[in-house]
Amino acid sequence: LLGLAVASAMVLTTSVAQAKCDPGEMVIKFSHVTNTDKHPKGIAATLLEKRVNEEMNGKACMEVFPNSTLYDDNKVLEAMLNGDVQLAAPSLSKFEKFTKKFRIFDLPFVFEDVDAVDRFQNSEDGEKLKNSMTRRGLKGLAFWHNGMKQFSANKPLIKPEDAKGLKFRVQASDVLVAQIEQLGASPQKMSFKEVYGGLQTKVIDGQSNTWSNIYGKKFFEVQDGTTETNHGILDYLLVTSSKWWDGLPDDVRTQLATIIKEVTEARNAESTKVNNENKANVIKAGGEVRTLTPEQRQAWVDAMKPVWKKFEGDIGEDLMNAALKANQ
Ligand code: LMR
Repeated sequence: LLGLAVASAMVLTTSVAQAKCDPGEMVIKFSHVTNTDKHPKGIAATLLEKRVNEEMNGKACMEVFPNSTLYDDNKVLEAMLNGDVQLAAPSLSKFEKFTKKFRIFDLPFVFEDVDAVDRFQNSEDGEKLKNSMTRRGLKGLAFWHNGMKQFSANKPLIKPEDAKGLKFRVQASDVLVAQIEQLGASPQKMSFKEVYGGLQTKVIDGQSNTWSNIYGKKFFEVQDGTTETNHGILDYLLVTSSKWWDGLPDDVRTQLATIIKEVTEARNAESTKVNNENKANVIKAGGEVRTLTPEQRQAWVDAMKPVWKKFEGDIGEDLMNAALKANQ
């Protein structure tokens, strides 16, 4: 009987582990933290998985683990360097330990919209940024868009002074910390999966994120409202370990790179549409969305922009200018 139980347990484990992957296929684990539907990253990751599994069948097999089910963003890069996971797409705010150049993406009010970000990322400077961490063992494969960030809180935010004294969750980035301090509010670094609970239990009063994340993780349910500030960009780097990537057979690496490029172009072109749909979803679900007049928004620009001075040295004048030029 025991033998039978062991045998059936083995069958079960094998069939679970091989739900998608055939014996002999190289397994590519992709860990991320957001939901899968109605989300720029979630949709792109699912599409990448589908294409790899169809077109590279027999050679490679991709398994996506969304919703922080495998790793948090604060653990995933370490796990990648240890060879435990092959792909991730953390937000650009989460590479602080590896490069200070990515701080350009966290400064408030640098990019007017996602199109400007796209132009900058696809420039020579963007290419250099993608490859800036190879010495640290990380290879940037592609920039993936999410979109512009909005502020939400447990009280209406119309003037920058409304944020004074509130506690805001920030991603693990010193620029984002400084930005909240600039508003006279307190920053609290916290992982993405803890934000809903933090807002619900009032450990934090507010947060800043894209419409896709605000809708996807239902932050609007536990906030007074969201103010359309569009104060910064939240984008991703699809990243892998240089060691793993360089060790791939040439044909596998080439085919994978082509699929990644095509998925990136197709999904990046849709990211703004997905965010606009999620803004509408928040409103449909009863979330309060506040828009600002140009004068009201300018007050936020004036209040937050002084933070640039603190980080210009890390980023460098040339890169700052190149980013600003992308708005034209
Ligand atoms: C966050 O931590 O708020 C975001 O980076 C989550 C994500 O991956 O969009």
